[in-house]
Amino acid sequence: MRAYDIILKKRNGQELSTEEINFLIEGYMSGKVADYQMSAWAMTVFFRGMTERETADLTMAMVRSGEQVNLSPIEGIKVDKHSTGGVGDKTTLVLGPLVAAAGVPVAKMSGRGLGHTGGTIDKLESIPGFQTGIKKEQFFNNVNQIKIAVAGQTGNLTPADKKLYALRDVTATVDSIPLIASSIMSKKIAAGADAIVLDVKTGCGAFMKTEEDAFKLAATMVGIGAKVGRKTTAVVTDMDQPLGNTVGNALEVKEAILTLKDKGPADLTELCYTLGSRMLVLGGRANTYDEGRKILEELLKSGAALSKLKELVEAQGGDGTVIENEELLPEAKYSLPLKAAADGYVYAINAEQVGIAAMVLGAGRETKEDVIDPAVGIIINKKRGEEVKSGEILATIYYNDEHRARDAERILLAAYTIKNEKPLDRPLIFGYVD
Ligand code: URA
Repeated sequence: MRAYDIILKKRNGQELSTEEINFLIEGYMSGKVADYQMSAWAMTVFFRGMTERETADLTMAMVRSGEQVNLSPIEGIKVDKHSTGGVGDKTTLVLGPLVAAAGVPVAKMSGRGLGHTGGTIDKLESIPGFQTGIKKEQFFNNVNQIKIAVAGQTGNLTPADKKLYALRDVTATVDSIPLIASSIMSKKIAAGADAIVLDVKTGCGAFMKTEEDAFKLAATMVGIGAKVGRKTTAVVTDMDQPLGNTVGNALEVKEAILTLKDKGPADLTELCYTLGSRMLVLGGRANTYDEGRKILEELLKSGAALSKLKELVEAQGGDGTVIENEELLPEAKYSLPLKAAADGYVYAINAEQVGIAAMVLGAGRETKEDVIDPAVGIIINKKRGEEVKSGEILATIYYNDEHRARDAERILLAAYTIKNEKPLDRPLIFGYVD
């Protein structure tokens, strides 16, 4: 077998065999297939696409390239949730305790943020004392005892994906649906999930800018799950404006606590019920999504989910009193209000630009080496569709560094579009792929 023939076959629009895909990935990892051949192949995939079978084969070849986590020491069906990435997306902080309170094990391995989207691990580390680097045994024990643990990704999972992603990033081949789908699904499968709930974002702050592409990506990932025996379901949701009202680590933790006290923003609460009810059905705790939702609503309103968050924080060395006393979370020294220059309606808030403004403040990383400031961020005071008067506060910047604040202010101001007309309603949930 030769890489040349495989590239040629795909270039001519033919379907690759399982053996050919395995040869390519194994050869790429061993150095027999060169970067330039792999990039030519990725470009042919970009134009020619892949069948469901090819995409599933690619996924599994990447899974086999590294370690695979064995979650069998944890009792029950392990359901993972994955978001394709968003701004202000603190869903895991609410959803994890909510689902765990229902008795479904949440064994969450999360990443750090890079670019305009944040990472769950960075958010949790803003809680004083919280350890995300816990050992495997403690991780398993915690999930068995309290049904939840959240740790940073360790181990050498899917090295082929890491290598291929770095190549795609510099060869204009990232935005290929089969390549994105296999990249995401390989990581979830290697992390040991029995079942997967996907939150596929669409809008200007998301990878998939259009609804059509988001549904295609969702269907491709659900198809991979079905082919490789991991039940997968997807929800396509909005990421045209930030989720909830906060962007920035400690600010997002505060908002998650508030949401578990049933005082959170409507969009975040609704999204958690929607995704959570699917996790309960896949985890065998509910028979229907409606039943799952009712269970979750009760757990939220009774305070059981909030207590579960406290248990999680304390089990991982964090200060559990932050749950009652949110002022213990890091706070920025200064704040700067962003005011509307004219009367009108908030017509759009560019989520990606809000994410970039938060990153510039120090809430996120431009490069992997950047150090995060947990206290800084943005509160969105006016969201899409709201009426504003000239001089009213649109958003508030929380900062520790004046220069960064000025840069963020400029970006944030440009992220807001104010018009005389009200924008058309945009749904939070666009639909489902099961
Ligand atoms: N996220 C991933 O994990 N992989 C991709 O290819 C794109 C987004």
